[in-house]
Amino acid sequence: MSEPTPVEDWTTDYDISDPQYITDPVPIWREMRTRCSIAHTERLNGSWNPTRFDDIRALAKMVPELSSRAPLVMPPPPDFEEPSRYEQQIAAAPITADPPIHTWTRHLILPTFAPKAVTKYAAFTEDLAHTLIDSFINKGTCDAAVEYAQQIPPRVIAHLLGVDPEMADTFVGWVNDILGEGLLDPVKRMAARDALLEFLAAEVKKRTVHPKDDLLTTLLHSKPKDANAEITPAVVIGIANLIVVAGIDTTWSSIGSALWHLGTNPDDLARLRAEPDLLPTAVEEFLRYYAPVTMARIAETDVAYGGVVIKKGDKVLMNFPAACHDPEHFESPDEFIIDRQRNRHVAFGSGIHRCAGSNLARLEMNVALRVWLERIGEFKVIDLETIKWAGGQVRGPRILKVLFSRGCARSKQLLENDHR
Ligand code: HEM
Repeated sequence: MSEPTPVEDWTTDYDISDPQYITDPVPIWREMRTRCSIAHTERLNGSWNPTRFDDIRALAKMVPELSSRAPLVMPPPPDFEEPSRYEQQIAAAPITADPPIHTWTRHLILPTFAPKAVTKYAAFTEDLAHTLIDSFINKGTCDAAVEYAQQIPPRVIAHLLGVDPEMADTFVGWVNDILGEGLLDPVKRMAARDALLEFLAAEVKKRTVHPKDDLLTTLLHSKPKDANAEITPAVVIGIANLIVVAGIDTTWSSIGSALWHLGTNPDDLARLRAEPDLLPTAVEEFLRYYAPVTMARIAETDVAYGGVVIKKGDKVLMNFPAACHDPEHFESPDEFIIDRQRNRHVAFGSGIHRCAGSNLARLEMNVALRVWLERIGEFKVIDLETIKWAGGQVRGPRILKVLFSRGCARSKQLLENDHR
């Protein structure tokens, strides 16, 4: 792949895979929002990028004119044959579906992610967090992205789906190739997607013969109220595909961003350690400030909105992260306020596709961060030059070296020297 050319004007030529956009998008959104709040680029087959809260919320409501059947803006491989509309919609329903398929596929999974239902994953997540910390605490240092944040969501998802827990690391590799580093490499992306679908197809086949007490079996035997709904193995594979992809990269990014923030902002870390009850409020601010997910829509018809005409076939980014920094809706939006009281963020999206897994995501974040603060205590991010952010459509730190005082005398000394 050739190196992309640098961006000269963010309002006419933005590039969501540009290193500057990935590392620190906040000033770029500010500029775009002021100069051209629905920007356009020809890069990556072209797309529109709204940065105002009200526009993003309004565009998210334009269903079915703006369809969800192709939510990535990255180009397909050269010999890619476009699947039928139905195949596109069930590929990762409900996120890739429009009504009516969206409605009944979403209803199939909502009970699993209801506030009370997800509490059954709390003990598993807490044990996991402790086991992970046990494995590195004596070193006094670790990669908080790789050894902690990245390890939690894939294990929770494998547990929830009822598949072999040993698959967690493989899930991470596949998801990274689908949504992360492989996003710009269509061949890698398709290979990972095919491997994940093949794995899920084999699991679904096993459940048809030997039902288990797990989500895959529940989905296979569900009876939607919609008379036109048809539960086929392909539908179940598509939903499971989404749960793996949507449930892993997103939450790992959010836990990682929170650790990045606390490890580079000692005052916020000290406040949270002194006031642990503040954590749920802080989690909402982590979600707002570092909102990771930007999915896309495709125009099924010409759509005139906000002074631009989105042509049939054009992609539109649902830039929920930029919406979360709009001064029209948030006071001092580019400031991280750990006890922010009014915080109606859209990190989980807006409209009919609003995140179905938000209760589970919040639970994982709260448990992972609480256990980290209890066990690790004081820590800081080190080796700033090695930090790596992933971006594009899901943003979060992928390498994050930290130093902490518990467990290792040498690290304790290094941190103490810092305070002198
Ligand atoms: C902090 C973590 C997470 C964030 C920030 C997040 C964000 C989002 C966003 C912005 C959307 C809307 C996409 C769109 O409009 O096209 C979405 C949809 C979705 N998310 Fe999440 N998500 C997170 C975690 C999870 C988890 C843990 C799960 C489940 C295991 C999950 C499952 C889903 C599903 C099923 C949808 C599609 C809903 C629909 O189309 O009706 N997400 N998520």
